[in-house]
Amino acid sequence: MVFQGASFSPQDAYHVHFESNALLTVDHTGLIDRLIRPSDADYTSVRQAAQAADILQILPAHTYLLPGFIDLHVHAPQWPQAGLALDRPLNDWLNTHTFPLEARYADSQFAHRVYQHLIPELLANGTTTALYFGTIHHDANLELARACADYGQRGYIGQVVMDNPDQTPATYRTPSATDAINGTEKFVMAVQALAKQRHAAVTPVITPRFVPSCTPAALAGLGQLAQRYDLPIQSHCSESTWEDQYAQEHFHRRDAEVLDHFGLLTSRSVMAHGTQLSTSDLDLFHQRQTAVAHCPISNAYFGNAVFPVNQALHRDVKVGLGSDLSGGFTPSLYRNLQQAVMASQMRQDGVDAAQVADKRGVKDSRISATTAFYLATKGGATSLHLQAGQLIPSYTADFQIVHDRYATLMPNDAGSIFERLMYHTTPADIKAVYVRGQRVHHLKGDHN
Ligand code: GUN
Ligand code: FE
Repeated sequence: MVFQGASFSPQDAYHVHFESNALLTVDHTGLIDRLIRPSDADYTSVRQAAQAADILQILPAHTYLLPGFIDLHVHAPQWPQAGLALDRPLNDWLNTHTFPLEARYADSQFAHRVYQHLIPELLANGTTTALYFGTIHHDANLELARACADYGQRGYIGQVVMDNPDQTPATYRTPSATDAINGTEKFVMAVQALAKQRHAAVTPVITPRFVPSCTPAALAGLGQLAQRYDLPIQSHCSESTWEDQYAQEHFHRRDAEVLDHFGLLTSRSVMAHGTQLSTSDLDLFHQRQTAVAHCPISNAYFGNAVFPVNQALHRDVKVGLGSDLSGGFTPSLYRNLQQAVMASQMRQDGVDAAQVADKRGVKDSRISATTAFYLATKGGATSLHLQAGQLIPSYTADFQIVHDRYATLMPNDAGSIFERLMYHTTPADIKAVYVRGQRVHHLKGDHN
């Protein structure tokens, strides 16, 4: 396949690269082979050969090729309650709404229905890779892995461990630490077998829910499993003051230090939220090369706080973007990217606006759409050790093709188009989505 048209790709956290009419060639293994500019000697010959072979796809006017988005934090089972009960505090929301909903996934049929609905929805929003929390149930989690395979999404899938009887209801609890370890190991094997059998991009992830919901024995065992099988790890870290207090009271350490003590902060770890991370925690994340999944919509509800993106990036901490469905209400990373910019502005001091010292805010907090775009693409890819999130040779051909619906009315320089796409793209503007060079979504009724 050869794509011809305009594209935006992140260069780093503060720069985005625009190509006005390049050819992007994709090889048979689903990797980007070459990016050929009109000024390159073989542009015309490659283009003609592709046209002759009927593999040239010319992007229509006012449409753009972007890397697919990478959602670093999704609770797949919470999809049926997206947008509900978000006015409750975290602990209450978990116990009253979330745990009872997740308990229903003991029924694999229910899991099948939800996951077959969720995955296409995420693809329609431009999300080509997602890092998922499942539930405690083996069969339901395999339904999630199968749904990723069915629809061609790249999925990282975790079997949730929550075995602490003091913090979990009897109706929704991992029976014991031993069961947590054995059950996780069995799930790892099953997902790896599925990946092989279906040639699917699914990977198992070690998933202690968060420190309060796990016993020390489970945390320790999961740390060892992650090391033994060289697996990614995910959890929540310092999402709320309540969570931080819990770590202090029960372990006399900070939340991040507890996870680290059990071998759960590694270069393959992705920790959600982190709004309450201290500078020493951020230094620990840097040392361990652990990533943060920034979930700006959810953080407005449950963290009542803004994660300091710039401060983390300046300390060389890996950061990506997460929807945190259903702590966040939307499957769209566009909406999270918009909220990331808005929230950063609320953390910013008021000095340059009012020319007076405004002590409420913090300097250098503001981020732009460019940085938010980086988080949703390259930042997420780096966190998962994936060669994705950028339109460059040897990276995976995970794309979204988006339409600029206001093109005829508004400024048409590359910078304006880019910002407009970030702020206005909805599923109705996402024409097609590709994973590993295969089209996995296209807009119904659209023939481009
Ligand atoms: N902490 C532990 N579990 C959860 C969850 O499901 N959502 C959020 N936002 N925080 C959590
Ligand atoms: Fe979460």
